[in-house]
Amino acid sequence: MALEVIVLAAGLGKRMHSDLPKVLHQVAKEPMLFHVLKTANALNPSKIHVVLGHQSQKVADALESLEPELRQKLVLAIQSEQKGTAHAVMQALPNLSANNQVIVLYGDTPLTPKVDLENLLAALEINSMTLLTATVDNPFGYGRIIRNEAGRIECIVEEKDATPEQKAIHEINTGMIATTTEVLQEFLVQIGNNNAQGEYYLTDLAGLLVKAGRAVGLVGATAPEMLAGVNNKMQLSVVERLYQESKANELMMAGLTLADPKRFDLRGELTFGKDCFIDTNVIIEGKVVLGDNVTIGTGCVLKDVTIGDRSEISPYTIMEKSELKVHTTIGPFARLRPGNVLEDEVHIGNFVEVKNSHIMNGTKSGHLTYIGDSDIGENTNIGAGTITCNYDGANKHRTTIGANVFIGSDTQLVAPVTVQDGATIGAGTTVTRTVPANALFVTRAQPRTLADYQRPTKKAKK
Ligand code: UD1
Ligand code: CA
Repeated sequence: MALEVIVLAAGLGKRMHSDLPKVLHQVAKEPMLFHVLKTANALNPSKIHVVLGHQSQKVADALESLEPELRQKLVLAIQSEQKGTAHAVMQALPNLSANNQVIVLYGDTPLTPKVDLENLLAALEINSMTLLTATVDNPFGYGRIIRNEAGRIECIVEEKDATPEQKAIHEINTGMIATTTEVLQEFLVQIGNNNAQGEYYLTDLAGLLVKAGRAVGLVGATAPEMLAGVNNKMQLSVVERLYQESKANELMMAGLTLADPKRFDLRGELTFGKDCFIDTNVIIEGKVVLGDNVTIGTGCVLKDVTIGDRSEISPYTIMEKSELKVHTTIGPFARLRPGNVLEDEVHIGNFVEVKNSHIMNGTKSGHLTYIGDSDIGENTNIGAGTITCNYDGANKHRTTIGANVFIGSDTQLVAPVTVQDGATIGAGTTVTRTVPANALFVTRAQPRTLADYQRPTKKAKK
């Protein structure tokens, strides 16, 4: 028996007040639907059916960016009119294979824990259907679990159909169920829409199965707060915080020191060695890898970077798609744009921007500089205010600087240009041709001093 997952994602999301389909709103910079699909995939299903409706083309296009391994498991079904959750499942049903287990998930419940789904499947061994339930402080809006005198489930009643007594019940339906294709084929067609919303409710399956004498099992959610559905921007922010809190806890339990887990945002994957420290308000995006003893200062944004052992990134440094080797010191207020390799002991100081450059061991650029499309040798010093003029208005060109070079402050290097090993560039120079090894190169206007110079004065107003 294989497993198939159905993800319901056809809803309009009216309360988001947005042109973006609800399931594409992001948690940790990734569409909610992707979180659900990744959890579904972790259960190793043969197929994942996604029911699309509202703006289905936009959602289908977004799905193209998923990893091929997951993408190839997706089977899309279109629900052109949103007539309820049972009607939605019905649209996917023809694509399911006989004699399989089926799990139904919601695209707007991105944090659904995998363990709860495993528990649903385990309980399915002795039931025709299992439901994930939770007991919550505020059950408003949820379907309530109605039990008989013996304590067995009788049915589920939706908020809008519930009597005042039923509304007082705190045991709710999270919406996630496990069952089989056979049960769906037999019972889905029996669901009607004679209710307050005129919708075909998937939740009516419970009552139908019980009436037919089939066993329905209830499984309690391990962390009920994780099953909060997102209907508006407030709930989106709650889910985002829950996600961040759980990720921060995971990282700390694995040995990362966070100055404050409440002021840390992970929007991708972080791996790290021993004794790393991350100060407040740091944002991690994409794939970030830290070696041992790496320190990240407050306010840094790191996206797709690898940072070697003992490196220190000072506050408010922004870096993307770069590789930093051992004991580099960067910032404060530095910007590394994509394509850099900074070798051991490189120092990049404040207000220095580096792009698409390879900088060798021990080279320093302390202040106010632009290094773009450059190759720089070891132990070179780049003075304050140096600019590699890499763009001629049409094309980009490279700057090559050797080892043990000294570039004086306020130098412009007009690429393509080469400064050979050991050369010295005087402050204020514009380098437009190759500087030979060990030479001094300087371009400077002849200094003039005019004694007792009289500045212009303002004309008197008429
Ligand atoms: C649903 C459950 C309720 C449960 C709650 C948990 C039903 C009838 N009710 O209510 O018992 O407590 O979830 O959050 O199932 N969808 C479609 N097509 C449709 C209707 C919905 O794809 O025609 C999708 C939505 O996009 C959403 C999910 O199904 O992802 C749930 O639908 P929603 O309308 O939000 O159901 P609730 O009223 O929250
Ligand atoms: Ca909902």
